[in-house]
Amino acid sequence: MNSEISRLEFAKSLALEAGKLAQDMRTKASNGFIKSKGLQDFVTEADREVERLIKTRIAAQYPDDAFLGEEGGSQGDSTSLWVVDPIDGTANYMRNLPDWAISIAFCQSNVIQIGVIYAPDMGNLAWAKLGDGAYVDDKPIHVSDCSDPAMALIMMGRSSRRPVKNYLNMVAAIFDAGMEYRRNGAATIGLLAVALGRAESYYEAHVNAWDAFAGMLLVTEAGGTSNHDGNTAFIQDGSKILVGNGHIDARLQAIIDLS
Ligand code: IPD
Ligand code: CA
Ligand code: CA
Repeated sequence: MNSEISRLEFAKSLALEAGKLAQDMRTKASNGFIKSKGLQDFVTEADREVERLIKTRIAAQYPDDAFLGEEGGSQGDSTSLWVVDPIDGTANYMRNLPDWAISIAFCQSNVIQIGVIYAPDMGNLAWAKLGDGAYVDDKPIHVSDCSDPAMALIMMGRSSRRPVKNYLNMVAAIFDAGMEYRRNGAATIGLLAVALGRAESYYEAHVNAWDAFAGMLLVTEAGGTSNHDGNTAFIQDGSKILVGNGHIDARLQAIIDLS
């Protein structure tokens, strides 16, 4: 077993443990569990506690590795870097809507080697290792082969850091092009849908590395494409992402350019 395989197994069991903690904490939630960070922007006690758990477990197992998490920021400067969103889709999680997930990626010199997404309410554990394919619950997954816009489903995320007008222009242009559209409030779940062949593309005008790195590897290892800024800039500042099955990308890129 090489070290990356063992990191993968470690990340999978860590995601399962983290997901259980998030579910347990939600069951026991009392006043003050949810806090507002701004307009329609929430953090729960579980976001912080789950990140603390993941960070502690990684530090115990791989003390030399660096860590980047949504809640606590970055620690360490190793070329071996874990990128973690403890709960992606917090606004769904806190409402008992099922579209949320734990997202754990591992990078070597900013190249994504491992991606794990665990969606506890959906009961799905998804993972990918660079060059080894993508899997959900032990079964290989593949992006769809749909190239017909009239059959295509585009998933989108809405970044509050970008103008809503561009988002609405894109939705209108997607319908004008005969495509269908969904927004489900969790980048991980949208990316997973593309990797599973349930949607053709995922687009968001700005995401952070913790939202997207695990899902991007899942999609490319499932045979799809991932267009964004280079990973070093992405880790630093976030990026626009267009991730898809490869057959709708050009059409969608033209819509993005005009929106
Ligand atoms: C957010 C969700 C949302 C996406 C945002 C993310 P959070 O993550 O993934 O769908 O549109 O860009 O920030 O705040 O729930 O971890
Ligand atoms: Ca997120
Ligand atoms: Ca989050």
